[in-house]
Amino acid sequence: MDVKVFGVVGAGQMGNGIAHVAAASGLKVIMNDVKQEFVDRGMAVIEKNLGRAVSKGKMTEEEKGEILGRIKPSIDPADFGEADFVVEAVVEDLGLKTALFQRLDEIVPAGKILASNTSSISITKLAAVTKRPEKFIGMHFMNPVPVMKLVEIINGLATDKETTDVTVELSKKFGKIPVEAYDFPGFISNRVLMPMINEAVFALFEGVGTAEAIDEVMKLGMNHPMGPLTLADFIGLDTCLAILNVLYEGFGDPKYRPCPLLKKYVDAGFLGRKSGRGFYDYSSK
Ligand code: CAA
Repeated sequence: MDVKVFGVVGAGQMGNGIAHVAAASGLKVIMNDVKQEFVDRGMAVIEKNLGRAVSKGKMTEEEKGEILGRIKPSIDPADFGEADFVVEAVVEDLGLKTALFQRLDEIVPAGKILASNTSSISITKLAAVTKRPEKFIGMHFMNPVPVMKLVEIINGLATDKETTDVTVELSKKFGKIPVEAYDFPGFISNRVLMPMINEAVFALFEGVGTAEAIDEVMKLGMNHPMGPLTLADFIGLDTCLAILNVLYEGFGDPKYRPCPLLKKYVDAGFLGRKSGRGFYDYSSK
């Protein structure tokens, strides 16, 4: 299957990054969200990130214009009628994703691929709400998408080989390195990452160290580019909690129970960078 038109649902942090790399690879991209202001904001982020590459001499102003010109901003899901491959990058909410895929299944031509950028929700479960589970796959990008090399490819129970092959090739076209994972709660990435972040929150909760001390230990001692609490703020504490709940419920194992302090922060609306406050205060930045 030849992918020429690539659709992205969601123009937020992940969605605009995915649209950016897809357009940079030469594809025609449709970036859709529910409100014009969300799409405009997503386009502005892409423009800013491309502008940084231009100012560093890594790209010409003309190339930047061409990439932006390949992205069609959209608030009408019917635009996906011409798409060969659509990836969803909306919030980690099973009900929302289920309703969205039922709608996409009606709009995107039969035989074309539907993908989810979910960080933990079962691909098999999402695929089952469509009439094309064999053409459904997990395509999990990392944040910030233009920088991070990995795409985790998650095969659901019914995903066929052509769908996996197309998604692997597409990831390579985007300049990424695909790694396949089977469909299990949290896949590989968050099965390993979230227990570490959760443990860092427990260490803070129990007074083992300050947030700064915990992050410095992991940065200086383990060569992590960001400490786990800074990374949690970067990902979003609500997203971290949602993923931990999927692990906890999915495995039924208390080792995945979210730390009460993480729940408390989310209850308080301290969601990390995006809300101006998480384990750290970003209000002045
Ligand atoms: N968008 C686009 N480009 C960005 C960017 C962004 N948001 N942030 C940084 N960059 C680019 C910079 O322009 C710079 O580019 P050049 O090399 O071309 O100059 C490069 O990235 C490095 O940036 P900086 O020098 O400003 O900063 P840094 O060296 O501290 O790197 C970082 C920033 C790449 C974010 C680094 O701190 C890092 O790798 N952090 C860990 C990120 C991580 O773990 N992500 C995965 C999260 S988990 C997830 O996404 C999945 C999930 O399911 C939860």
